[in-house]
Amino acid sequence: MASPPAKGVKVPALVLLASASAALLLFLLLPSLAPSSSCPASYLAAAGDQQMPYQIAPSADDVNWLRSQIHMNSLPDPSNTPGAWHSLRKGINPRTRSQQLEDLLKFKGISHYEDAGLNHTELPCPGELLVEEHHSNYGEPWAGGRDVFEFLAPAVSLQPSDLVLEVGCGTLRVGVHFIRYLDPGHFSCLERDELSLIAALRYELPSQGLLHKRPLILKGDDMDFSRFGVDNSYDLIYASAVFLHIPDQLVWVGLERLTFKLKPIKGRIFISHNIKFCWRIKEECPRRLERIGLGYIGNHTHDSLLFNHYEIWYEFRKHGK
Ligand SMILES: C[S@@+](CC[C@H](N)C(=O)[O-])C[C@H]1O[C@@H](n2cnc3c(N)ncnc32)[C@H](O)[C@@H]1O
Repeated sequence: MASPPAKGVKVPALVLLASASAALLLFLLLPSLAPSSSCPASYLAAAGDQQMPYQIAPSADDVNWLRSQIHMNSLPDPSNTPGAWHSLRKGINPRTRSQQLEDLLKFKGISHYEDAGLNHTELPCPGELLVEEHHSNYGEPWAGGRDVFEFLAPAVSLQPSDLVLEVGCGTLRVGVHFIRYLDPGHFSCLERDELSLIAALRYELPSQGLLHKRPLILKGDDMDFSRFGVDNSYDLIYASAVFLHIPDQLVWVGLERLTFKLKPIKGRIFISHNIKFCWRIKEECPRRLERIGLGYIGNHTHDSLLFNHYEIWYEFRKHGK
């Protein structure tokens, strides 16, 4: 027969004292034995050889977890006809985005808040922004912005204390993710389009809770980066789907000025889609790059979880440094 569990096990006082001292010693020693980092190990994600301070891209485990949650809730695969998809729309307000815009324009126009409080709802925000029309201003999925961030940040082992400049940030589809990750005041952008700037400032920053990050977003189309300050040099400068829309001559002017603002050794310029401004002048291109002090490193094909196609990114650094 098994004996009943002992209720009160008696331990000699000396043994108790020795165990307590050992535990205390272990407790004091443990921090110095752990790898030196201010973050818990579970927040560190490898990016090449470098460690990033937070996990940037989802791991295979994360994606498996996501699949398990979809499965656990018996959610069907997304239907492939708009009719079937919309038939899933139920609830108290099964109205489409354009119908909701109609309501907003008819009844309120701005938001449900009547009082001017000490928050962003004080700022008039057009109904078009509230139904997020600007998420499709530049085509492609809005979610692709996260994807670009998850590619670029590890590519330069970005740290929150780094400085980032985006040329043509549009409605902040990509920018919001950098702004969230970086320290306050460490993200800047030059953007020419008024509607995009209104969407970025009146809707995206407040709705994402990012006003405290104080990004410097300036209106302009002349590649004048002097307005961002004279002393700063950037760890990352990127242009996502921008340079292909700008006349070659202006791109070269911009590149020369950007090279001047790029941090030596670590700093990188990334340009997406194509570098036709370079290809169009053929063998003159390497000489011209050299003249402005820029070195071409190579290109990356970036396939993604969120985007519906791959992208090509061209990487540059300060020449010879
Ligand atoms: C295709 S959109 C891409 C927007 C954003 N980078 C994204 O990926 O969502 C191109 C952006 O470049 C901006 N742009 C075009 N020419 C510009 C210029 N000369 N200076 C600044 N921005 C410019 C446009 O206004 C637009 O917002």
